Amino acid sequence: GTPPFYFQDGILFCEQVDIGELVNSLPTRIHQIPIQGKFIQTEVATTPFFLYSKAALRNNTRSYFDAMRTHNLNGALGYAVKANGNLNILEELKSLGVEMLITVSGYEILAGLKVGFLPRDIIFNGNGKQRWEIKLAIEHGILLNVDSVFDAEQILEISGKEFPQKEVQVLLRVQPPPFECNVAVHPYVNTSESSKFGFDTRDMNQILEILQEHEKIKVYGIHCHLGSCIYDPQVYEYIAGFVTDLSATLAKNEIHVKLLDIGGGIGINYHGTLPEPMSRILPKTLKVLLEPGRSLVGNSAVLVTKVLGTKRSRNKNYVIVDSSMTDLIRPCLYGSFHRIYPTKLYNFTQWGQFDVVGPVCETADFLGKNILLQRTLAKYLAVMDCGAYASSMSSNYNMRPKLEEYLVDGSSWKSIRNREMFQDITATYKYKESTSNATE
Ligand code: LLP
Repeated sequence: GTPPFYFQDGILFCEQVDIGELVNSLPTRIHQIPIQGKFIQTEVATTPFFLYSKAALRNNTRSYFDAMRTHNLNGALGYAVKANGNLNILEELKSLGVEMLITVSGYEILAGLKVGFLPRDIIFNGNGKQRWEIKLAIEHGILLNVDSVFDAEQILEISGKEFPQKEVQVLLRVQPPPFECNVAVHPYVNTSESSKFGFDTRDMNQILEILQEHEKIKVYGIHCHLGSCIYDPQVYEYIAGFVTDLSATLAKNEIHVKLLDIGGGIGINYHGTLPEPMSRILPKTLKVLLEPGRSLVGNSAVLVTKVLGTKRSRNKNYVIVDSSMTDLIRPCLYGSFHRIYPTKLYNFTQWGQFDVVGPVCETADFLGKNILLQRTLAKYLAVMDCGAYASSMSSNYNMRPKLEEYLVDGSSWKSIRNREMFQDITATYKYKESTSNATE
């Protein structure tokens, strides 16, 4: 069928919605801000915003389920909340059949519970769990990943002292030994051996001894996750083999795990050309959990931004837009590439190469370098593949607000997140305005 985002007669569509038309239909709102006993009025900008496609979420979950069926895999599909934690997206994914959530903070756990995931279907992973987070997890029966010797000690101490009667199910987050294959990921998203995540198999015995000190702690599974943006299926075959062997070794010691979690990390094609390698990646072994983030939500959204103007420097042409690194930090943090398209293409015009940059006071503030764009520019640009690690990594730098988010379903759309306002950003500063500060 038609992809969720496509051009038709030079117009960029999200499902059946003309994106440029959507922007133009958004009403201008006025924002009243109380300042020094008076009100200052400002217009609320309608751009930038994230625009999600429900069909994309449907396609992505479906291709996982299809692949599992094709390979007769006894599998479960999980989702890594960090990629995108919008509660509405979590709810959509749940209704599309995502069975488990992988979380990395207490608030992500609460988000999972809020949208109705059962505690036993939520995994709490992390190399630096805080006490309140561990308590939250144990009290509510959330699965815990054991990441290190000290993590095992913490879990033992808190469960033994504070919840002696509660059963605690844990997974062992293990680093496989180095192996020959292509985890061609950026070093910042490589989580394999010698990263700060998981423990070396040399610590296995010590960790098991600690966990065995409290009979209520049960080893439920093994967990491995080697990195993000992995395109080589061999990586997963290797991990599947590794965790399978490890489960056999554990079984010899009377530890019978039920779940083999082989992580997430399957890459998507940011260039938008090749098919997803998903089905080749799935191993045909035991009961496995996959916990992707990016490949479920990455291509489900675009970042719609308004062109503010163009300018040239000595060796560069710039398009300046109203979005920035605060909405999408991937290009400046990892040098990631995102396609950038105008929402409208013209028939007769020249093309040029531009750096697409935002208004933030940092030279690192770019969304794309050397992007081929028409010289007659549309009013709006769409930065593609912004469903994962865009909104969830956004910041308030330069006092910029987190963005509005819309979800398209067929020909209709609705807002699933408010744009932050000045009051939202400053509310936590505990500042009591004294009108006498005003100077004439
Ligand atoms: N499971 C664990 C234990 C993880 O650490 C991650 C991601 C995932 C699953 C999901 O990985 P995915 O399928 O989304 O690749 N901010 C970076 C990506 C960081 C990934 C961190 N861990 C980026 O924007 O590329």
